[in-house]
Amino acid sequence: MRRVLLALVLIPVLPAAAQAPTDGKALYLQRCGICHQADGGGTWMLGRRLGADQALLESRTNLQPAYIRQVVRTGIASMPRFTRVDVSDAELVAIAAYLAKQE
Ligand code: HEC
Repeated sequence: MRRVLLALVLIPVLPAAAQAPTDGKALYLQRCGICHQADGGGTWMLGRRLGADQALLESRTNLQPAYIRQVVRTGIASMPRFTRVDVSDAELVAIAAYLAKQE
């Protein structure tokens, strides 16, 4: 009986929770924007290292989802790594799909 009640309580909550992480653009702006918007440190560093046309992640067409996920989980140069507490796997999939123009 307890289990049935718990299931009934959870049912209305689950669809909302499952949909939340799928908006890759909103998540990207929220988690990555501070460094990767036009005036951010990540944009500046990438422009220095790879050239102005590669600086803004949102304008790139050569980023693969697997590479983005790896960079976020391990960090790169002065970009810190993000744990699953910082960005969940589902959120990261959505962010990577957005940046790789696959959503
Ligand atoms: C605290 C600032 C900061 C945050 C927050 C940040 N980054 Fe970065 N990111 C950087 C910097 C700085 C670099 C460039 C490192 C270098 O010099 O190579 C970078 C590089 C990258 C690269 C490598 C691009 C390439 O061409 O090799 C990817 C991909 C990336 N970031 C994705 C993300 C994503 C996705 C997020 C959000 C989950 C994020 N970053 C959040 C600072 C940040």
